[in-house]
Amino acid sequence: MIGCGYLGAVHAAAMASLGHNVVGVDKDPVKVDRLAGGEAPFFEPGLEELLERGAVSGSLEFTTDLGRVAGAKIHFVCVGTPQAASGLGADLAALDGAVDSLIPFLSPGNVVVGKSTAPVGTARRLAGALPAGVALVWNPEFLREGSAVADTLRPDRIVYGVADSGEPRGAAELDSVYGSILEAGVPRLAMSYESAELVKTAANSYLAVRVSFINAVSDLADASGADVLDVAAALRLDPRIGSRFLNPGLGFGGGCLPKDLRALAARADELEAPLTADLLRVADCVNEARIGRVAALAAAGLGGSLDGRRVALLGLAFKPLSDDVRNSPAVRLAAALAGAGARVVATDPVAVGAARPGLEFAVGVREAVAGAELLVLATEWPQYRELDPAEVAGWTAARVIVDARCVLDRAVWAAAGWTVLAPGRPSPDPRRLS
Ligand code: UDX
Repeated sequence: MIGCGYLGAVHAAAMASLGHNVVGVDKDPVKVDRLAGGEAPFFEPGLEELLERGAVSGSLEFTTDLGRVAGAKIHFVCVGTPQAASGLGADLAALDGAVDSLIPFLSPGNVVVGKSTAPVGTARRLAGALPAGVALVWNPEFLREGSAVADTLRPDRIVYGVADSGEPRGAAELDSVYGSILEAGVPRLAMSYESAELVKTAANSYLAVRVSFINAVSDLADASGADVLDVAAALRLDPRIGSRFLNPGLGFGGGCLPKDLRALAARADELEAPLTADLLRVADCVNEARIGRVAALAAAGLGGSLDGRRVALLGLAFKPLSDDVRNSPAVRLAAALAGAGARVVATDPVAVGAARPGLEFAVGVREAVAGAELLVLATEWPQYRELDPAEVAGWTAARVIVDARCVLDRAVWAAAGWTVLAPGRPSPDPRRLS
């Protein structure tokens, strides 16, 4: 396993749990030490159990020494492909570097498996660089943070991108790696390299566009007096639309959706598909605008200005069950509130490493809300959704909460004396804001 970030660490532990002998290689000695000690370098339910089991059985090893991959039959490439510093496209330096440095250790009959998310066209280029007799299969990963172990061991589908001339080389070897998963009936689709690459970026971009779509409807609801949650509830009952990924609010973030949407837009431009690029870029703009939208709601909740006001922010992770703050809408909102002059005191059950100038930390909700004039629910952790509004009212004099994720039961909060403001939802009683 080359690269032991989110994808590689989970994949390594999951493959060891299937009975394979796995060597995970990463350049970061601190990460390697933690993984080797059975400790997950990020919050991911179920991962530490697998790491410990792999360490005890001896089937899972982590190292900084790439030479340890010599003799392996299958080489998974799991390095990151972040957004390039210079533009919207993906930075492929780590991917190209990983494949280059792997080449001296490859022997005929080996299979290189690309799992990194890469722009369409990358796999065919990399396949051309591999030694004769070494096959490349492009095998995108669809794991979600927070359910990464289950997503790896029980995926919705397995996609193989193969060189489309002749035999799909490498597919049989990869079938043997995924044996028990395939036997459980998980669909496995073989297609060209280009299709497999596009599956991954299209899947993430579709999810992003879908979230932006419901947030665009949220803006229409605000402008017309409709309630976006009523609209979404009815949309979900149409089986053609489906029920998931229609939660409006603060928009999408994390290490994948934003960068993959932008990378696909950039690739669409290169491939001279300007309308596709426009569609994706507008979804990105709709998402970016969520922060200002919710910040304006917070200002409204304080009578028009955030300047000098103390705001408690509940949640920093980009979504619940994660400590990831990459591109986190909650962190971006905190910055926007602070930028408008607010003194922001933030808390999160696990994402405690998101220190930013102008942002104070509190260890829990009680500490965060003490002295606050306004509360903002920015990440919908279950423990925040289940807060007892009467109890919270005992911890703070604030009586307005901005429900940026549209998850609170407004009637219950109103009964305890709160005004709940949520984007896309008509204000329950605007007179209480004055
Ligand atoms: C995503 C893809 O889901 C996964 O298949 C891929 O392999 C990696 O990228 P992840 O980054 O873990 O996974 O996050 P995801 O659960 O997709 O959520 C992304 C963002 O969208 C979060 O910020 C979440 O809060 C937001 N979101 C999601 C919404 O705002 N509304 C929704 O209805 C759903």
